[in-house]
Amino acid sequence: MKRHLFGLVAAVALAFVSFGCEGDQGVEGPEGPPGPPGEGVAPYTYFGGFGEQCMHCHATNVDNVLTTGHTQAYDDLGDSQTNLYCLQCHSTGFDSQVAFGDTAIADANRGPDIYGYDDYYGVAGDTAAERRLALEGVQCESCHGPMGPEFNAHSPDISFSTHFVGTESTSLCFKCHTTQINEWVNSGHALAAGGDIDAFNQEHYAHVSSCQPCHTSEGFIEDNDPRYATYEFEHEVSFIGCPTCHDPHIGEAGGGNYAQLRNTSPEEVQYTFPYQPGDEEVPRMEGYGPAQTCAQCHHGRRNTSNVQGQIANGYAHFGPHLSPQMDMFIGAGWYEIPGKTYNGVHQHQSISLACVECHMVRDTMLHGEMVAHPFHTWNPTVGNCLPCHQGITDFDVNLAQTVVRTKLDQMAVLFGYTDWADLEANWDSQAPAVLPWQREALYAAFFVYEDGSFGVHNPAYTNALLDNAYAYADSIINAP
Ligand code: HEC
Ligand code: HEC
Ligand code: HEC
Ligand code: HEC
Ligand code: HEC
Ligand code: HEC
Ligand code: HEC
Ligand code: HEC
Ligand code: HEC
Repeated sequence: MKRHLFGLVAAVALAFVSFGCEGDQGVEGPEGPPGPPGEGVAPYTYFGGFGEQCMHCHATNVDNVLTTGHTQAYDDLGDSQTNLYCLQCHSTGFDSQVAFGDTAIADANRGPDIYGYDDYYGVAGDTAAERRLALEGVQCESCHGPMGPEFNAHSPDISFSTHFVGTESTSLCFKCHTTQINEWVNSGHALAAGGDIDAFNQEHYAHVSSCQPCHTSEGFIEDNDPRYATYEFEHEVSFIGCPTCHDPHIGEAGGGNYAQLRNTSPEEVQYTFPYQPGDEEVPRMEGYGPAQTCAQCHHGRRNTSNVQGQIANGYAHFGPHLSPQMDMFIGAGWYEIPGKTYNGVHQHQSISLACVECHMVRDTMLHGEMVAHPFHTWNPTVGNCLPCHQGITDFDVNLAQTVVRTKLDQMAVLFGYTDWADLEANWDSQAPAVLPWQREALYAAFFVYEDGSFGVHNPAYTNALLDNAYAYADSIINAP
């Protein structure tokens, strides 16, 4: 017993030398348990034990991780706790490949013998039983890699990224969450810069600090998670991937968000007129659960002075940026022509139908049962609308999108262009001949266009913006 204790103390002391003791509780933290039998810290590589070996220096992370679904992964197997196929993703350190229906690990499928769950499976005796108990569920080392036996030599796997290098994913989630990764790879989030990570790293929006919070995983985490405010990120940036939206270190039961989502806070619009940012009255998206995650990035980028400046002077990048979906959905936050009436209230809001319900969750067959499941392609499907809009074959419900496209074309014609595509390509907000009232009217049209849903996100607000802008421009152009 003494020897074991010595082993741990020595290892921890060594660790302090090489890391410095800057874990979140340091030497003041709860003392780790005595070391396991054998020379040094452990004769095996995975400690398991639900983070007890990490407690001393990472107490907060350990407490919080215990509140995630990952910790329950073994218990949730129920009757299948002896099914090797299931165990490979529901236990820690299972490095053997087991096909569905296999009842034994074939030697050819056995991974390197690094003492994870599979290495104790079917092994008789108390020690193996204890080890299995210590390795149940998805634990720290499932993602961060085995910590021993050379604790001091260990450097935990850590990654903020999700992409593929050949057939290998850089994601710590890949080995178990293949379904979500295979959906993600075809999504708009994965296809930034054509899905080429090197090209992505060259993009302006990937390395400019004002763009990074919405365009890169590292930038978002740094900006949205106070624990990472001063974290030293590597220089390379990554696509928006699993750890961007999900924080694996806190579950709902510990005060975290549903599905380990990192940030589901309310989000205010940027164009706050007539209020100041932070005022109680500033419109915000709030109370839509997981969809709040989308609002953190998919909101208009121009604040009150940007908008007023663009209208007065036509500064470049006219319009809200391509991201005003939140503003459109809540029906607020955009330039409204004085004296006109705007209605931002829409039925989808009152039934709490937000981003996630249309863009992710759909009914699908899982394990022989029809269940609601979130898809990670983020593409809405007509199937998402069918429960309420029976019989439709596309998103153009009651021709709502056709009406909006027609109104954009009419606006372009009023300004002397063939159609909206012609205006969008050729109109120059900074041309000397363009007057502020023209920019006032076209601001609405650019907002609708950049939202990209052509009315679906909020038919009421979309039509109010376009109708008011058209009437305003028409009253000046065709003034008697
Ligand atoms: C003796 C203290 C100590 C123990 C025990 C310990 N760590 Fe750490 N760990 C550290 C220190 C110090 C750092 C560096 C922290 C920093 O840079 O802010 C660190 C960093 C990490 C990181 C981040 C690495 C990075 O590149 O940013 C991970 C992941 C990690 N530890 C996982 C674990 C896990 C899992 C365990 C338990 C199996 C564990 N640690 C046990 C001290 C410890
Ligand atoms: C390839 C890895 C993998 C295999 C193999 C696997 N699972 Fe899972 N399982 C997961 C992941 C990942 C989740 C998380 C939810 C998701 O993907 O939708 C999950 C979720 C579950 C859940 C839902 C837990 C809850 O309450 O939300 C149950 C129950 C479950 N699995 C049982 C099984 C059973 C039984 C088997 C064997 C027949 C099995 N799993 C095989 C990876 C796997
Ligand atoms: C489901 C995978 C997963 C599990 C389980 C997990 N981590 Fe992490 N960990 C990550 C990822 C991804 C990052 C980097 C980004 C982030 O925090 O989401 C990270 C970052 C860290 C960091 C560096 C940042 C920080 O918070 O200081 C530490 C330390 C860490 N993990 C420790 C732990 C410990 C200790 C456990 C177990 C109690 C654990 N992790 C469980 C995936 C995981
Ligand atoms: C508030 C969050 C946010 C900020 C800050 C932001 N963007 Fe974006 N940006 C988005 C979103 C969301 C989209 C995607 C909208 C869509 O595709 O419908 C986007 C789309 C783009 C696109 C089109 C991408 C493509 O592949 O077609 C470019 C280019 C772009 N942004 C450049 C920038 C630049 C440059 C900056 C910094 C000066 C920046 N963005 C800052 C949220 C943001
Ligand atoms: C752009 C944000 C975003 C990204 C990126 C993302 N997710 Fe999600 N994920 C969500 C949201 C939002 C939900 C909750 C959906 C709901 O309300 O049911 C979710 C739910 C989940 C769930 C719960 C599934 C269930 O059946 O309950 C799992 C597992 C998951 N995500 C894994 C992943 C993995 C693995 C990746 C990386 C490929 C990933 N996510 C990337 C936003 C994201
Ligand atoms: C060793 C396999 C494994 C790894 C690695 C893994 N997961 Fe999981 N994950 C699971 C299993 C199994 C479940 C189902 C747990 C249960 O029984 O509820 C799950 C559940 C989840 C859930 C839904 C449950 C909850 O607590 O809300 C999310 C979200 C999730 N995982 C995200 C991630 C992310 C993000 C990563 C990578 C940073 C990751 N997982 C890495 C196996 C894994
Ligand atoms: C971290 C910021 C961020 C978060 C969070 C986020 N997105 Fe995105 N999203 C982006 C950016 C940036 C792009 C554009 C990528 C590119 O093309 O360069 C994008 C692209 C998209 C696209 C593809 C648009 C197109 O033009 O094809 C859809 C759809 C989408 N996001 C939906 C969602 C939904 C739904 C959520 C919430 C579950 C969400 N996003 C959360 C930043 C984010
Ligand atoms: C009522 C269902 C619904 C809701 C709610 C919803 N969307 Fe959409 N969204 C759609 C449809 C439909 C489209 C248009 C797709 C098409 O025409 O191809 C779309 C388009 C988009 C696009 C792509 C625009 C482009 O340039 O291609 C993004 C990004 C997006 N939505 C994000 C969001 C975000 C963020 C939220 C929440 C604030 C949200 N959506 C809420 C149904 C919805
Ligand atoms: C949970 C039910 C529900 C779902 C799902 C739903 N909607 Fe709706 N939607 C409504 C209700 C209620 C109204 C208001 C009554 C009406 O106009 O039919 C509405 C109205 C609309 C309108 C305005 C119609 C008009 O005549 O002005 C459009 C456009 C629309 N929805 C598009 C969609 C699209 C596209 C989807 C799927 C991506 C969708 N909705 C999903 C319930 C739903």
